[in-house]
Order: sequence, then C-alpha cells, then structure tokens
Amino acid sequence: MSSADNQPRRLASFLLGVVVTIVVLVLGFFAYIRFGRLPVATADPSFPMEAQIVHVPLEARIAREMQSVPFQADAQTYQAGAQIYVQQCASCHGTPGHDVAFASGMFPRTPQLWKKHANGVVGVSDDEPGETFWKVKNGIRLSGMPSYQNVLSPTQMWQVTLLLKDADKPLPATVQETLTKDQSPAAAPPATQGLKHD
Ligand code: HEC
Repeated sequence: MSSADNQPRRLASFLLGVVVTIVVLVLGFFAYIRFGRLPVATADPSFPMEAQIVHVPLEARIAREMQSVPFQADAQTYQAGAQIYVQQCASCHGTPGHDVAFASGMFPRTPQLWKKHANGVVGVSDDEPGETFWKVKNGIRLSGMPSYQNVLSPTQMWQVTLLLKDADKPLPATVQETLTKDQSPAAAPPATQGLKHD
C-alpha cells in the first residue's frame, strides 16, 4: 500500500485520538468537581495562583472602565465620606484603630482600609481613586464586597473614595472623630435605605 492510501486512515485515528482526549478531560474535570476536595469553605487554603488568576480579569476590566475624579477633596468631602464609611463600610473594613473580628474569616479576607499592610501602604491609599470608585460602584464578584450603585449616589461614592485615598494623611479632627466615635458595628448598622440623594 502506498503512503497516500494510508493518509485517510492516519487522519481518522488522529481525530479519534483528539475526541478521546477531550472526552477523558471533560469526564476527569467533572469527576474532580464531584469527588475532588475543592476549596469550598472560606477557611480552606487558596488554590495555587488563585489570587493572581482572579485579579487579572478584574484589573483588566477596571482599566477599561476607570473614570477620573470629578471634584477635588476638601474638609466637607472627607466629613461626608466618613459618615458614609461608618454607616456602610466599617462593619467589614474596620475603622482607624479598630479591626473587625470576622474580616479575616472571609474569603477573600476583607482588608483593613486604615492600617499599613506589609508593604507599608495604608489601605488603598496607593490606588487610583478611579479604581476604588469602580470597586465601590460595582462590587467584587465572589467576594463579600457589595456593589453600592443602588445604595449610594455617584457623589457619595466619590466622597468615600477620596477619603480612602487620603487614609494615610492626617485628616481633620472632626473626620477622625466621626470615624472612631462608635466602634461597635451593632450601633452603626449598614443603612439599607434612605441614603440615596445627590
Ligand atoms: C460585607 C462586607 C463588606 C462591606 C460592607 C464592604 N466591603 Fe469592601 N471589600 C470586602 C471584601 C471581602 C473585599 C476583598 C475583595 C477581594 O479581595 O477581592 C473588599 C474590598 C474592597 C476594596 C478593595 C481593596 C483592595 O485592597 O484592593 C475597597 C476599596 C473596598 N472594599 C471599599 C469598600 C467601601 C468604600 C465600602 C463601603 C461603601 C465597602 N468596601 C463595604 C467586603 C466588604
């Protein structure tokens, strides 16, 4: 038999190989989901590279949709931002000098936005305000971070964003006081209505 006669047969067995490989991979994948020990508990350790894999699409999306700051921050901005922060954010992210006990039991963990991290940066003060605004507006899927677009007005979201941008700087005493005066989340439950105005 000439090699030309062999060609269709070789092609057929190559295609069969491809199909069998795909079927085995799909079955293997479902078997892994069904019988494997995937990390489904918040207390489970993360997958190798999990943080990196999740952050690539998030950062790409934010880079595409990032808005620029519509106004500059002044004392009033910080004050308004601090009130919003205490009502909406402190129950998870804590306040200056006060950590939330359950924050580290979440997955991903809720970052303390008033503390220096290991790299020396306080909270998200090194992030572009447009990035923080995006996260507050849209939330972060499959994490505890809610979307606030139906809770806060754009102005309010910018106020809290600009406050967090300057979390590493000395803030007016009244702002500090608003942030720290009541440390118990029970006394400042996240408001769910009546806040939206412009
Ligand atoms: C129910 C808990 C919860 C509440 C309430 C909450 N957050 Fe978050 N937030 C999270 C979690 C969890 C993350 C971590 C998400 C991640 O790492 O992917 C997060 C992440 C963030 C980040 C990104 C942090 C970083 O290091 O990049 C910002 C900024 C932020 N939140 C701001 C806010 C603001 C502002 C509010 C209030 C308007 C708020 N959050 C309310 C749970 C919460």
